[in-house]
Amino acid sequence: MKIAIGADHGGFSLKEVVVPFIQSLGHEVEDVGCDCEQSVDYPDYALPVCELVAQGKADRGILICGTGIGMSIAANKVTGIRCALVHDMFSAQATRDHNDTNVLAMGERVIGPGIAQEIIRIWLETPFSGGERHVGRLGKVKQIEAKYAHPAHAE
Ligand code: RB5
Repeated sequence: MKIAIGADHGGFSLKEVVVPFIQSLGHEVEDVGCDCEQSVDYPDYALPVCELVAQGKADRGILICGTGIGMSIAANKVTGIRCALVHDMFSAQATRDHNDTNVLAMGERVIGPGIAQEIIRIWLETPFSGGERHVGRLGKVKQIEAKYAHPAHAE
């Protein structure tokens, strides 16, 4: 798969560790930055990663900031993005299985590189179950997205 990845200064060091790890799993990586620990704004890196995924130019996206929270908030504003903030292996598996997430957010100040790599491995390898219940629920999520894409109808 092609994986787009981005981080702010709070996630830069973890990004540097996980990029070669993702490549070692056989995936292509497009790194949108940032390139050092100088302070930057997480939405500036969430947006290009999510646009690559939403436009079909990347299969999945990975976003890292200090907590992962800002990145996940920004990512879920992009139409077509289903981003999960994940800090444990169970959620990494469940969010692919149930939510068909296409973007993963993590916090460098929350977990270490060993857990982050295992989360990434599980998240990349787990397919969406495609189960009727989950497809139906994702359809309802899409309806919310569509409703608020046209504010005139959101009353
Ligand atoms: C930056 O200090 C920090 O706020 C950011 O990396 C992230 O944790 C925001 O949610």
